[in-house]
Amino acid sequence: MATWSAPGKVFLFGEHAVVYGKPGLAMAIQPRVQVTVRKARHPARPRSSYIQECFRETGVRGTVYVRSQLPSASGLGSSAAVTVATLSAINEEFEKGYTREQVADLAFSIEKKVQHGLASPTDTYVTSFGGLVLIRGPERLRLPPRNIPLVVGNSRVSHNTGKMVERVAREREVRPAMVNAVLEAIEAVTEEAVGALQNPPELGRLMNINHALLEAIGVGHPALSRLVLASRAAGAYGAKITGAGGGGCMIALAPKRARGRVAGAMESCDAQAIVTTIDTQGARREAHA
Ligand code: PMV
Repeated sequence: MATWSAPGKVFLFGEHAVVYGKPGLAMAIQPRVQVTVRKARHPARPRSSYIQECFRETGVRGTVYVRSQLPSASGLGSSAAVTVATLSAINEEFEKGYTREQVADLAFSIEKKVQHGLASPTDTYVTSFGGLVLIRGPERLRLPPRNIPLVVGNSRVSHNTGKMVERVAREREVRPAMVNAVLEAIEAVTEEAVGALQNPPELGRLMNINHALLEAIGVGHPALSRLVLASRAAGAYGAKITGAGGGGCMIALAPKRARGRVAGAMESCDAQAIVTTIDTQGARREAHA
């Protein structure tokens, strides 16, 4: 029996622009998914298609038990975390000898297959390695970890990443001058943010700008706007959509004294609030009780 866990992730800056080769800044967060795998000759078929693919790709058979602190399909990378934790547990239980890079690469190819080619390598990379990751074209740069405490607000409005990516692509066809200018502005915000990671008030202002730019390209949602405004009114330095938008989650950066108030403000908008910070471990082996 082997148990591994892997963290969720948020996009701090640059979502959508990253699809067009602009930089994106993502961070692993503390809520985790934990997966136990045990060898079995005639296991039941796993319900998750990600887990089915993990067994198919590695050519082994086993039972799986999943516990998750991450809401699924909300943009916090739960499918990537499940895939990486399952592959890591298979790796130990069946002595496959994969490196962490190999697990991350295999997890990405599984995400791509299950999501019909629409996955970006961001989620699987961040959940495998943890920390802060700057994506720039084909490069994935691990930045020195910083404590960036966040309040994540899950709007509970379901969204579809592929559809939101398509919506931006269509908008770009209709209004190329405007959308390209916004994507460039998002790039400038992300680059500034990389230099402001130790300055929370400045980082908050940059989040507010990034949020407005995301709304300009059509990935806002009234529930997310409400959460962003409520967080700012409750004392956050800044707040924005995180991930694909159109539903899913937003994040707020708040001084310590305001974090509880920001979480309360989100909950009074019917959202789930998660107070969290950076995870620096990525996928890790869990001891058995
Ligand atoms: O909703 P998420 O966290 O999977 O983020 C999607 C981010 C996009 O930039 C919109 C797409 C991508 O694959 O990077």
